Amino acid sequence: MYQIYPRSFADSDGDGIGDLPGITARLDHLVELGADAVWLSPFYPSPQADAGYDVADYRGVDPIFGRLEDIDKLLTQAHSRGLRVIVDLVPNHTSSAHPWFVEALASTPGSAARQRYIFRDGRGAGGDKPPNSWQSVFGGPAWTRVTDADGAPGQWYLHLFDAGQPDLNWDHPEIRAEFGDILRFWLDRGVDGFRVDVAHGLVKQADLADWHYPDEPVSGEPVEGPRPPMWDQDGVHDIYRDWRSILDKYPGDRVLVAEAWVQPAERLAAYVRPDEMHQAFNFEYLEAAWTAPAQYAVIDRSLAATDAVGAPTTWVLSNHDVLRHASRLGLPVGTIRPRGIGADDPQPDAALGLRRARAATLMMLALPGSAYLYQGEELGLPEHTTMADDARQDPTWVRSGQTERGRDGCRVPIPWEADAPSYGFGPTDSSWLPQPAVWAEYALDRQRDVPGSTYELYRTALRLRRDLALGTGRLSWVDGPEDVLAFRNGELLVVTNFGAEPAALPEGAEPIHASAALDPDGRVPTDVTVWARV
Ligand code: GLC
Repeated sequence: MYQIYPRSFADSDGDGIGDLPGITARLDHLVELGADAVWLSPFYPSPQADAGYDVADYRGVDPIFGRLEDIDKLLTQAHSRGLRVIVDLVPNHTSSAHPWFVEALASTPGSAARQRYIFRDGRGAGGDKPPNSWQSVFGGPAWTRVTDADGAPGQWYLHLFDAGQPDLNWDHPEIRAEFGDILRFWLDRGVDGFRVDVAHGLVKQADLADWHYPDEPVSGEPVEGPRPPMWDQDGVHDIYRDWRSILDKYPGDRVLVAEAWVQPAERLAAYVRPDEMHQAFNFEYLEAAWTAPAQYAVIDRSLAATDAVGAPTTWVLSNHDVLRHASRLGLPVGTIRPRGIGADDPQPDAALGLRRARAATLMMLALPGSAYLYQGEELGLPEHTTMADDARQDPTWVRSGQTERGRDGCRVPIPWEADAPSYGFGPTDSSWLPQPAVWAEYALDRQRDVPGSTYELYRTALRLRRDLALGTGRLSWVDGPEDVLAFRNGELLVVTNFGAEPAALPEGAEPIHASAALDPDGRVPTDVTVWARV
């Protein structure tokens, strides 16, 4: 599954923002790469307070991305190439520009229009303190106070993300009915499914109890201890059962994929029980340290948890919310994943990061289950870690009081041609986020048909993955030295060496693919993955 972030994939009209016709014109790239399906991040009408994750109209296309007809064309063109297409569904919150929220603001406290969202009176004298202690994922309080029609300060509304993303009240039957209709709208148009944004957030603990944040407010929840009142409440599962029953009425295979920052793996597996969603992103895998024991543990736990409910496991190393893995893995092992990197911060080791990223990807692509790729990782793209702060667009930067750089560094428009304007992203030099000069060396045209390039590494791996049916295979661990991770998937042996010393392959093993050259004795060097036939 290949994630396209429409703003940054391909710009057909030269305004510096990628668009749907740009995607359609580049679909052959995905076929050449060997992807089976595409996930499109949001393209709906939106004020773009959070790059389109603030949706003002769930049934349209923002003019910056094109028109509704462009989606139809994209779907037809993708399907004719055998590519499935899933779209992003953002049900936790609307945009503050959504007609419902506009109506809520114009209505009085307690009115029907306000019931669709989570409005509360403030605490303290005159209600001037937020109703509870919850923090926005992007920083600052999760509540914003509104001004009443007479100019007086009014109630507060909840937004777990930006103030432009008010949370919906999922106890309200109208919300449930509306989202059922939205699903049908896109299914009728021919989409193959949905990636469900913030799937662990829709239902809040009814009393909206205060929450004491252990150390960091953002990524889901701690592995142990009480569950935060805003995440992973049991009530979310009823919603997904309803949705599943809607999808099941459609012909062909249609999928629901949960974006749920939920741990441990058993809690996450509940989202993919037989009558709920089909897959859920495995963020625990993404966050695991680059050591053999950590990787072993997370893979083993992930497979066990999803096996228990009969669902496929998923694997993901990069997406539009996290530091690209080619840079993340260039930080000292065990570093807590930073939320963005700026020019003054310690910089990742680019060569080491890419070497490890290639090894990590090659290991991931041999695992049974679904693999999710993020646009540009097939080029080995690093994070843009020296972006000028005044170019940043992610609300995280401002809302965190400029303490967290945010996610712009992984969202930079990707390079197609080294010597073209905007590196081939569009017909002009314009790019909504600045592209660093190193983009030239990563451009697709510098890597295609170049033996050893990251692009050819991915292509070969995806071809073999398909030929050997690795995605539907079974994993069995192979014993070896402590710093070496080895497993079999069918006739394939996969060895990743995390240790300082080269690792020997078993007698008779015949290497067929590797993330970097083996040593002269045919051994696996440090930070290298090898695929071998046994
Ligand atoms: C998800 C999206 C992220 C967005 C947030 C709020 O985590 O992946 O990009 O900011 O939800 O919609």
